[in-house]
Amino acid sequence: MADSSSPSINSSRRMKFLKAAFRAMEPPNCFVSLAKQIGGGSITEEVQTYILEHCINNVVEGNAYNSMYVRNILKKIILAAESTSEVTMDGLYEQLTLHMTLQRDEDSLKEKSRIFKEISFLFPGYDDCSDSLDLVFPLQCSLNMLEGDTGCALWPSSLFLSEIIVTYQDTFSNKVCFEVGSGAGLIGISLIRVGASEVVLTDGDESTLANMKYNLELNKLPLETKVLQKTNVVCKHLKWESPSKRELQHYRPDIVLGADIIYDPICVPHLIQVLSILLSGNANDCESTHHDEDQRNNTSDGDVMKVEPPIAYIAQVIRNHETFNYFLKLAEESYLCVVDITEEKQPYNLLPYMLSYDRSSVRLFKVSSLRNCNILSSSAVSIRELRGLP
Ligand SMILES: C[S@@+](CC[C@H](N)C(=O)[O-])C[C@H]1O[C@@H](n2cnc3c(N)ncnc32)[C@H](O)[C@@H]1O
Repeated sequence: MADSSSPSINSSRRMKFLKAAFRAMEPPNCFVSLAKQIGGGSITEEVQTYILEHCINNVVEGNAYNSMYVRNILKKIILAAESTSEVTMDGLYEQLTLHMTLQRDEDSLKEKSRIFKEISFLFPGYDDCSDSLDLVFPLQCSLNMLEGDTGCALWPSSLFLSEIIVTYQDTFSNKVCFEVGSGAGLIGISLIRVGASEVVLTDGDESTLANMKYNLELNKLPLETKVLQKTNVVCKHLKWESPSKRELQHYRPDIVLGADIIYDPICVPHLIQVLSILLSGNANDCESTHHDEDQRNNTSDGDVMKVEPPIAYIAQVIRNHETFNYFLKLAEESYLCVVDITEEKQPYNLLPYMLSYDRSSVRLFKVSSLRNCNILSSSAVSIRELRGLP
């Protein structure tokens, strides 16, 4: 994939990377590196002008942390321009002075620690010369990675899974999608945008849930109503430790999603239990005695249609191998088949401006339930045989 300095990307497109990086609140060092890449090694006058006109001058006032961010960007850009370019534009110094004066109002706002960023998905080959970005999702996030049980920050796996959703739109459109540990809500917003028929977003932390709902409103995606004429959206408090089997069976998703959810060994057995129930769609039908007539599986004249069993896509940065192996072990014991599909299902690089995002650190797993397999219920074939193991 071409980087921002690649000659295959035209110059107005490259400049847009700066605007997208600024709006996504990329760390100042990454922003400066990007600006240098785009300027061919230095912060040229053209790059400085673009930053001033398209990034700094459009800052929305009132959010202390965004203002602090602007100040840090300006300081670093001025330093880099002074050392790499013949000209450092007066406008940069003037803006820095202005943002220094805003500093005194910030202390009262600091406790909030909430920031607004915009995640822009930029499509490859879409070289529009206008100043607009391709697909932009505003999000309120926390600067504190631990706030809301880690759910108020944005994690790289949700960037990756959102790239997957936007790249492989057909896989998710018209599907009932259920996400566990949804955090700030980026994956849900992506699912709604690509036309999933129903999106159920869940999290076990109340403050994360409140932030997620806020983000849906920020993206003009109201809850419990059909948005964009097709998607029904639900945000639900769901702790993996507490839901009843019946409650989970009620949702009957086509696709289950999760990003950066396998990290706490105490939660792993509960997460496996939740996945196992959500993924045993067909098996559930056999087990449940009081289930309604299965309208999704039967046509009006009584023929049984072939219904794809549900599958899960889990994106994960494996930080602790022991915890991840524990997840795999419990998955096997629960007849869940976990396959690493990272190489076969690579997304487009839709975040080419985000130097802080290490796509290669994220793995994508497809999880399905072997309980959906007829052989399993009708004979004593072992799980090892089913998987082709000796
Ligand atoms: C590391 S964050 C990932 C958030 C989001 N998926 C992302 O990638 O940006 C983990 C999320 O899982 C949720 N979570 C952790 N343990 C949970 C549990 N036992 N039940 C429900 N949700 C849980 C947290 O509240 C948090 O939102």
